[in-house]
Parts: sequence; C-alpha cells; structure tokens
Amino acid sequence: MDRLKNAARLMIVSDLDHTMVDHHDPENFSLLRFNTLWESFYRNDSLLVFSTGRSPTLYKQLRKEKPMITPDITIMSVGTEITYGSSMVPDDGWVEVLNQKWDRKIVTEEASKFPELTLQSETEQRPHKVSFYVDKSKAETVTKQLSEIFKNLGLDIKIIYSGGMDLDILPQGAGKGQALAYLLKKFKSEGKLPTNTLVCGDSGNDAELFGIPDVYGVMVNNAQEELLKWYAENAKNNPKIIHATERCAAGIIEAIGHFNLGPNKSERDGVDLTEYKMKNPSPAHDIVNIYLFYEKWRLAEIDNSEIYLASLKASCSPSSVWVHPSGVELSLNSLLSVLRKCYGDQQGKQFRVWVDSVITTQVGPGTWFAKFHKWESFGEARRGAMISVVVSAKEGDAFDGYTYMHVHQTWVDEAVNENNLPVWF
Ligand code: GLC
Ligand code: MG
Repeated sequence: MDRLKNAARLMIVSDLDHTMVDHHDPENFSLLRFNTLWESFYRNDSLLVFSTGRSPTLYKQLRKEKPMITPDITIMSVGTEITYGSSMVPDDGWVEVLNQKWDRKIVTEEASKFPELTLQSETEQRPHKVSFYVDKSKAETVTKQLSEIFKNLGLDIKIIYSGGMDLDILPQGAGKGQALAYLLKKFKSEGKLPTNTLVCGDSGNDAELFGIPDVYGVMVNNAQEELLKWYAENAKNNPKIIHATERCAAGIIEAIGHFNLGPNKSERDGVDLTEYKMKNPSPAHDIVNIYLFYEKWRLAEIDNSEIYLASLKASCSPSSVWVHPSGVELSLNSLLSVLRKCYGDQQGKQFRVWVDSVITTQVGPGTWFAKFHKWESFGEARRGAMISVVVSAKEGDAFDGYTYMHVHQTWVDEAVNENNLPVWF
C-alpha cells in the first residue's frame, strides 16, 4: 500500500461475517470497540484487510447495515477478487493468476448435474467463483465426487465448504490463503513486509489463512465446526494460533492482547488512558476521543458537567472556526451552546457515532492536518460527514493536549460513489 512509507506495524486480515461482524449483536458493541481501537492506535501505521466470501454486491450491502470502517485492502468472493483503497481499485495481476486452468463454463455445467447442489443467488456467482448450497450430510461425498470429475477433465479446482451450508468452487490458486500469500509476496518485493500479521476467522473458507507461514491467527470463540476440525487435524501444535474465549471482534481484540501486538484497549472500553496519552501523544487518538465523548454526551452516558465543555473549549483556538456541512460557520461559543443543548437528546436510543479512516499528516512542527469520515447512526438511519481539521500540540515542555485550529465538514450522503464510499472530488 502506497499510503504507508514503511512496513506496516500490524496487518490484520479478517473475515467479516461472524468474525469482524457479529450478526447476533444488534448493538454492534464489539465491532465499535474494534473500530475505536483501530482508528485511535493503528490506522496511521498499520493495514486493515477484510477478507470475505461475499461478492462486491453483498459486501457493499453489509457496509450499509453495519458500522464498519474502511479497510486498506478488500479481498472478496473467497479470495478471488482483491481491491485497494476506498475506491476499490482491482488488482489485475491477481485476475491473470486465477485465469490459469480455469474454465467457468465447464465447472458450472458439471456441478449443476448434482441434484444435492442448489445454486446460490446470481450476485454470488463471480468470474472465478461458482457457489452452491448443500446439506451438511451430503457435503463430503459431493466434494469428493466433484473433485474426481474435475481432475479427470484436467481442471485444477479447489472446493471449499463453509458455515455448514456453502460450497464454493474456485481455481486451485484462489482462496483466502492464496490471496494473502500473494499480498505478502508483493509487500516483500517492495521491502514492506508487515512486522506482524494477524489473521482472523470463523469458518471453512478461513482455514487457509491459518496455514500461511509466520502469521498469528485467531479463531473467534464462535468458530464453526469445520474450522475447528481443520485446526485439530492440521495446526493444533502451532502456538501462534488461538481459539479465543470471546466472540467475533472481541476475539480479535483478545488476540491482539494475547500475542502482544499493540494496544488492546481504548476509551470505548471505559478505561482511563491519560497516562498512555501523555507518553504517546497522537492527534488521531484525540480526534477519536472527541467523537466518543460526543456520542456519550448525547446518550447521557456521562455526567452533564460543564467541566467537559470547558475542557473542549480549552482545546479549541479562540479564533477557530467550525464549518458546518450546511456551509454555516460556527464560532466556538455557538458550537458549545449547541452541544450544551443536545445533552441526553438520544438517551436510551440506538444512537452511535464512529469515525473512519482517520489519516493524520504532520504539516509543520507540532501541527497536523487530519481528515476522516464521521458517521452517526440513529437506529437504521445514518448520516455521514467528511471532516478535515488542523490541530496543533499545545505549547509547553510536557505534552498537554491539542488545540483545534480549524474544522471543516461536508455531508457525504449525496457525495458517495458507486461503492457507497465517500468521494473526494
Ligand atoms: C459468503 C458468500 C457465499 C459463499 C460463502 C462461503 O456468504 O456470499 O457466496 O458461498 O461466503 O464462502
Ligand atoms: Mg465468516
């Protein structure tokens, strides 16, 4: 990734459904915890990779349903499609690799002869992936028979069973593991092999990730039978792989702590990180905290105390301007009075605030330019803004926080591209 000048400190490669995203948690509590942690401490020197079985269509749908941040790299359709950045630029080199010994038409024809197999929806049929549903009791036999047929036809095919129901047929060189190996090779050739890599998964199509040499791995607590079976047969003695005691994203955070890969607590966990902040000042961490405060303030999850407003006031330059998305310029005093009025207005409601892609660039001594997206969700509805800020470290011998010099916001609802991601131009 060109965004990082050096090798990533940590690269997280995570599956989405039932790993990063907990479909049994309507509050999305652990996902929000992960987001806060990542944006506070990792975004600026690490890489986030989502590796999902979903097609681009279903991936974009999930982004609309859940409070997800934007990965640096998106691997979709079980490792058959790799894209970069928020504009999702495809890796054409990977497509070429996958074209070898692959004939989609023959694969579909042969597999369709099996009455046990039911074709998945049209969106999930991709150039290098043909997907079916099959009953758990029939999966093994069908897989064996299909492999035999393809072998006799001279096709190099891989069959993967996941979630106790999905059967994917891919080129032999495809899959989540091969896609990761391809990326690691690419990073290595650029001299930017991540210092640590952590892979995270819950089901059959994730197994390959755990087979990549030198990576740490976490099978989340709610991992499927087929993954645990693979682990027992293939990787039981690998100390770099754990079966977490926590579900989904909480299991990922648990693994970060277990393997000592970096900070594993953020203010969203209700911990006081004042000391840490003094030692490791970071404008990104500060920005994340301001919006966490804003969420808790409107939820009335913190006291209605003027002390908070006074501290916010002290963090803004008296001459600072906040440009609201409507184009109106808010002075510091009017901003504070708006905030004072909305204390607790979302109490007991499903109101959440999260920031995404908080990228900070130092533009002068003690001065940073930062840009990020801020999302507010009200139950099912959500509203996004693109924000840029200029912040300065307060002057003095010891670190004493930041001063916000300028904040500029624009709505992103209308300014999203076809990937439902904000556009800058
Ligand atoms: C996702 C995909 C589906 C695939 C499954 C397992 O659910 O939408 O097509 O079969 O992952 O890889
Ligand atoms: Mg999964």
